[in-house]
Amino acid sequence: MIKNFTICLLLVLSSCPVIFGQSPWYHHTTIYQIYPRSFYDSNGDGIGDIPGIIQKLDYIKSLGYETIWCSPFFASPQKDFGYDVSDYRQIAPEYGTLADAERLIAEVHQRDMKILFDMVMNHTSDEHPWFAEDRHRKPEERGARRDYYVWTDQPNNWKSMVSGNAWRYDTIRQQYYYAAFLPFQPDLNYRNAKVKEAMLDHVRFWLRKGVDGFRLDIFNSIYEDDSLRNNPTSGNIESHMQRPVYTANRPESLQFAEELRAVCDSFGERMLLGEIIGDRSVSRKYCGDKINNRLTLAFDFEMLRFQFSAKYFAKLVSNLENDFPEPFMPAYVFSNHDRRRSMKRLNNDESKAKLLHLMQLTLRGVPCMYYGEDVGMTDAKLPYKTALDPIPHYVKLPRGIVNMVDETLNRDELRTPMQWSADKNAGFSTAEKTWLPVNSDYKNVNVANASASDSSLLLLIKQTLALRNKTKALSHGALKLISAEQLPAHVLAYKRTWGNEKVVVVLNFGKREVEMSVPGTFSKVEVSNSKGNKLSGEKLTLAGWGGVVLAR
Ligand code: NOJ
Repeated sequence: MIKNFTICLLLVLSSCPVIFGQSPWYHHTTIYQIYPRSFYDSNGDGIGDIPGIIQKLDYIKSLGYETIWCSPFFASPQKDFGYDVSDYRQIAPEYGTLADAERLIAEVHQRDMKILFDMVMNHTSDEHPWFAEDRHRKPEERGARRDYYVWTDQPNNWKSMVSGNAWRYDTIRQQYYYAAFLPFQPDLNYRNAKVKEAMLDHVRFWLRKGVDGFRLDIFNSIYEDDSLRNNPTSGNIESHMQRPVYTANRPESLQFAEELRAVCDSFGERMLLGEIIGDRSVSRKYCGDKINNRLTLAFDFEMLRFQFSAKYFAKLVSNLENDFPEPFMPAYVFSNHDRRRSMKRLNNDESKAKLLHLMQLTLRGVPCMYYGEDVGMTDAKLPYKTALDPIPHYVKLPRGIVNMVDETLNRDELRTPMQWSADKNAGFSTAEKTWLPVNSDYKNVNVANASASDSSLLLLIKQTLALRNKTKALSHGALKLISAEQLPAHVLAYKRTWGNEKVVVVLNFGKREVEMSVPGTFSKVEVSNSKGNKLSGEKLTLAGWGGVVLAR
């Protein structure tokens, strides 16, 4: 009887990941995002490629990141640089071959790392063979169960996320098709079982090759209302004066998240990282209602426009803790290939960037860093008129207006080549001309310089990740914010706990030095972002924008 009881208790306890630390790897990982075109050019054509990524894996590993996420390198006319796929099982020749992609997966695994591919499931390129087939489909062969895309004779009021009317007239089929993003990216029709099965099969194809999961492009736009009802109007300029009730977050998309998760789970622990546009309650739905049974993580858009203040981050962290309690996990991301770089938002102030990343790497959540953030790369200033990025050619807004919301329309500005050294083309390529110009600050801001310095942002990132990787309290532990009333103005502090292991993180978002008593009994400085930070007995001094991680 006692024996049975003990066995039952052990079974119950061992199914509790929080106690036994068995929660899946993807909840405790750290992600480094690569924009393949700009990471490293191995063959001197001015464009980054897959063999180039392989050559730089040791660098990413040396920083301490576990997972890489690569923006798409599938076959594509590259009108939206890979987010317009024409074949999900081929690699675009400028990036390499299928064998290169397979080698990348193997090389990542050899280093005990993980890799996420970027799956664009909402739409394809208009050069995908399905689109040609649909355009030439005879009227009697059409319909929601047969068409690959979403077609109508009578467009409704749906707006594209970028460029006004989401419906485009096709002169061959003589109907309108729906494109949630840009006109050359027609939305797939998931009500056609053939489309859904084929897309899930592409996912299986890459899972079989060993990828550890996917980042999912605009995932909450997968389904639209089947009777094409008009969206209600709203006063929100950013959502184009309408509430996307019938174009986003349809119940079928949530259901699809479960199906996709089941496909991935049949291969083991595989990560699904959703790009979910909308507020946090929406992102949370995509992860699951009560249990984490849909996507594993969702990106939060609000924090890409963070304000650099203790008050802002205290609220952000407290909201995320409420909305994503165990077994859910928030993702912390401050830059990506679509939005202004965090460094630019910080007015290129490296001290502030050090504080931001010290926080990012010590919070309860999965930190996701965009290539170049590690050395403090910032946005280049490039003209809208000659942009390679399609967006400025569809959205005609002057730079002055866009600057007012601290954004840019020209995503080329934040996709410039990785700055490896002070050599020609920042060591990115030996070509005469790189696909985008290298940012002019590359002689100072580059990996070689940062690696040689004893006070660089890069070094701080390495130290913090090394600590995180060996400290369960940081990678797995619970987080408790210390209330602002107990702290000096502009200071944010939180404790991280795992069993008996405890650390405290104290961050000064003010530009003036602060003195305070240590919150708890912590006597060891594990990481410090400034020489001005000092711990003497119970007294902690933090330099302006200073931050520390303390242990017992
Ligand atoms: C979101 C991606 O992040 C962006 O780069 C792309 O242009 C759009 N989705 C369309 O796929």
